[in-house]
Amino acid sequence: MIEDKEPIVRNFRFVCVLALTFGAIIQFSTESEFTVDLTKRGLTQFPKDLPPKTKVLDMSQNYISELQVLDISILSGLQVLLLPHNRIQQLDLTVFQFNQDLEHLDLSHNQLSKITCYPVVHLKHLDLSFNDFDALPICKEFGSLMQLDFLGLSATKLKKLDLLPIAHLHLTYLLLDLEGYRVKGNGIESLQIFNTKKLHLIFHPNNFFSVQVNISVNTLELLELTNIKLNDKNCLKLTLLLSELIRGPHLLNFTLNHVETTWKCLVQIFQFLWSKPIESLNIYSLIIVEGINKENVTYSNTTLKALKIEHIQNSVFLFSQDDLYTVFSEMNIMMLTISDTPFIHMLCPQKPSTFKFLNFTQNVFTDSIFENCSTLFRLETLILQKNGLKDLFKIGLMTKYMPSLEILDVSRNSLEFNRHEGNCTWVESIVLLNLSSNMLTDSVFRCIPPRVTVLDLHNNKIKSIPKQIRKLEALQELNIALNSLTDLPGCGTFHSLSVLIIDYNLVSHPSADFFYSCQNITSIKAGNNPFQCSCELREFIRNISQISSDVVEDWPESYKCAYPESSKGTALKDFHMSPLSCNPALLIVTIGLIMLLVVVIVTFLCIYMDLPWYLRMVCQWTQTRHRAKNVPLEELQRNLQFHAFISYSEHDTVWVKNELLPNLEKEDLQICLHERNFVAGKSIIENIINCIEKSYKAIFVLSPNFVQSDWCHYELYFAHHKLFHEGSDKLILILLEPISQDNIPSKYHKLRALMAQRTYLEWPTEKSKHGLFWANIRAAFNMKLTVGTENNDVRI
Ligand SMILES: *[C@@H]1O[C@H](CO)[C@@H](O)[C@H](O)[C@H]1NC(C)=O
Repeated sequence: MIEDKEPIVRNFRFVCVLALTFGAIIQFSTESEFTVDLTKRGLTQFPKDLPPKTKVLDMSQNYISELQVLDISILSGLQVLLLPHNRIQQLDLTVFQFNQDLEHLDLSHNQLSKITCYPVVHLKHLDLSFNDFDALPICKEFGSLMQLDFLGLSATKLKKLDLLPIAHLHLTYLLLDLEGYRVKGNGIESLQIFNTKKLHLIFHPNNFFSVQVNISVNTLELLELTNIKLNDKNCLKLTLLLSELIRGPHLLNFTLNHVETTWKCLVQIFQFLWSKPIESLNIYSLIIVEGINKENVTYSNTTLKALKIEHIQNSVFLFSQDDLYTVFSEMNIMMLTISDTPFIHMLCPQKPSTFKFLNFTQNVFTDSIFENCSTLFRLETLILQKNGLKDLFKIGLMTKYMPSLEILDVSRNSLEFNRHEGNCTWVESIVLLNLSSNMLTDSVFRCIPPRVTVLDLHNNKIKSIPKQIRKLEALQELNIALNSLTDLPGCGTFHSLSVLIIDYNLVSHPSADFFYSCQNITSIKAGNNPFQCSCELREFIRNISQISSDVVEDWPESYKCAYPESSKGTALKDFHMSPLSCNPALLIVTIGLIMLLVVVIVTFLCIYMDLPWYLRMVCQWTQTRHRAKNVPLEELQRNLQFHAFISYSEHDTVWVKNELLPNLEKEDLQICLHERNFVAGKSIIENIINCIEKSYKAIFVLSPNFVQSDWCHYELYFAHHKLFHEGSDKLILILLEPISQDNIPSKYHKLRALMAQRTYLEWPTEKSKHGLFWANIRAAFNMKLTVGTENNDVRI
């Protein structure tokens, strides 16, 4: 019943505490706001002013010696309390009685020797290891920690049923610190461990291994031992301990950390473990002491599949290398890892070997490794990363006898391929070849296994991919980053390429046809190249931005212009150039087209719309307006009775009466017509002269009829004469019908000259043009001019 209500109660309390502190309920966005870090502060006491909302409190590496209810009960939301490396000597677990949420309590590396128990029911992780407990600190209350997952303990002596109170718990991890364990007397101690998946025993780091206890475990999946110092004498003590521990039917993952041993003892341990139900054996940090001599090993049938040894230090210098390496090369297991060692070689197994996977990362192997070795025919994966390999040709030759080899990693060596003629010999089964971080140049492409599907060549010295190389039809993934390539490779040589990594090269203008030749690309990574942002790049940018962003890795952030200086740093995505400025042919064609269009329009206007006529009319109109402005008004008004005198042939009378006169008189212009205004009794000539002199302008209506009329010529003569005398242009010539020069009799040279100057206004036959024609005529008259109409001489 109580348990059911608990979450509600807890939440309620949490809210109340917050409400008290801040006067309001505050929502916290991240976990870190509940975390208080007080590591290495030199604290000697539990601080009083901690925020009550604290969930995680880390006070590692201080000098705290005491925990009190008052300090901790206020932190009612506390879930994790880390107090390792302090000076706590006594612990009363009742201090946590109000911390219902406490799940993780780390009190390791203190000076605890006594503990008073209280069931802190929600604990999942309780670490009491590396303390000064004499016997294992287990009290019956621990039996109720049903959620306990990790338990760390320490003791100097063990009793068989110490762990009985927690026998029914299902622990995942039991850590037993036996650093302070001492052998007492002759009686052999024993400890029964009931229920845990993983057991980790830690022994004293400097003392020789001396534990003599029967530790028996019901079922164990993982076993880890730390700090094992062995010589030939106490080697048996370890195997004794192990015989009890490694008993169960479950296959075991066994790990040894920090092992110092003689060679002889190590070989004994191997032989011992070979018959145990172990699947994988790991040794991290191994020191071999004393001497290395030939050991006769015969490996029995084993369940062991994988042996991994990382970091070997060898304090023996004079020994036969073969004595060392045979122990490993003859192992009848599938997977062997020996890495970070001073080993310079590995022997070819004498019998057909079971190895499928060999990992020799970070040793000092040379090219002569597995030379002519034909016993590794089951080998599928060979990793020789970070060794002293130099000649790629020899590596190819090495694989010749490994018909199952699929994965070869020879990255991080000093490999070169310098042979000038011929190709390499490779086993054809290789599908993944890792040649990254070597010193390979363009020639490497003459030395690639033919069926490779994944090829890693990143971080080498390749400048280009030669055209004349054997096609790699199966290649799907090519990593060629961190080289000095200047262009993307086409897929002519790599028909099946689907993944290309070519970032950090010197690609400045990638060829745009890459995407046409490489249709199968599912991923390309080409960022961080010094792209030259010019016209040539536009097609590449267009292609790459059309492809979906899942295909182009790191687009757009890693693709930036490096040149020209003005575009440096611009993302390719944002780089644009107009199509015209990039295509000279297009530019020329465009200009040509525009010019052609102008010519067509002008021709059209000239032919169909009579543009020249309009131009001439407009031109004359503006000239006339300009002139009219410059003539003083008073001067004009003197002596003038008419605005204009009209001279025309009688054949054109109809036009003059119907068109010209009505249009002029509409504007209130006074017109002198010879048949209307001629004074009787005066000769015709006198009348003409009189009329011309009293008019502001003289209008001549030119037509073939006009040319034929003598009178008209007189009139023109006089008018022109006057015009010259007064020095201003007062003559308005209207060309009613076209007159060809030839039709003008040569005696009328004045008319010819005027016609030649083309200063006449043509009467347009189209009605639409009449407006402009009349505007031009009107413009010739100064409208402000008032003429004396009451003059006696002017009479009909
Ligand atoms: C090649 O080896 C390097 C380490 O040397 C590693 O980072 C890389 O992922 C490997 N490549 C492949 C394709 O496995």
